[in-house]
Amino acid sequence: MIYHIMTLFPDMVNEAMQHSMIGRARDNHHIQMNFINIRDYANNKHHKVDDYPYGGGAGMVMQPAPIYDAYKAVERTLSTKPRVIYLTPQGKTFNQKLAMELAQEQEMVLLCGHYEGIDERVIDMIVTDQISIGDYVLTGGELAAMVVIDAVSRLIPGVLNNVSSAETETFDKGLLEYPQYTRPLEFMGRKVPDVLVSGHHKNIEVWRNEQALIRTYQRRPDLIKHTDLSQQEKKILDNYCKNR
Ligand code: ADE
Repeated sequence: MIYHIMTLFPDMVNEAMQHSMIGRARDNHHIQMNFINIRDYANNKHHKVDDYPYGGGAGMVMQPAPIYDAYKAVERTLSTKPRVIYLTPQGKTFNQKLAMELAQEQEMVLLCGHYEGIDERVIDMIVTDQISIGDYVLTGGELAAMVVIDAVSRLIPGVLNNVSSAETETFDKGLLEYPQYTRPLEFMGRKVPDVLVSGHHKNIEVWRNEQALIRTYQRRPDLIKHTDLSQQEKKILDNYCKNR
């Protein structure tokens, strides 16, 4: 996967994405990041990329030309037209399903805006997808782009050392993850649930499925509505509700 990141702050993204799993994935060439500094495409002495909004109002708007030229420079290096993702609170809300869809791409362009936004014309001309990472407003698209890159990259084969961990965890089946424990067996008087040290794999699986289901019901009932529960799962929840 090659991410072409169009931004005014390439160092911010580059530095933040040098650590942990993503840093390793870059070192191992599972993913690649190509930074395009939009300011390099400013066509004026002071490298200005923004201006006052027509019609008045607060803040500045990013001008279309530097963004268009920066994009065209990327496009010229590619054999096919990539998805061009503009990070904006006005976009479609990012989730695991969209991460899985994007993980199928060979490359993508991520466009990070700043100030009060980007001139609408260049959005119309080059952007294929608009993505929001949640209902709040950030100062720029860089953090949102990093969220997308992180969530997508860990789905790319080889990026996580444990292949199955991306598959079994939170949201895969539309449920939250079951609780995890490690040593010591007893911590400040609190013991690890007996079933997990029983060595009985079937019972462990049953317990974990129950925990995932009950947790999701307690914390994110909105997710349960979207999952097709089996008869067995419905029974688990009925029991849980009765005994509460
Ligand atoms: N840029 C500013 N706020 C954002 C958000 N919530 N999601 C994506 N990009 C943004």
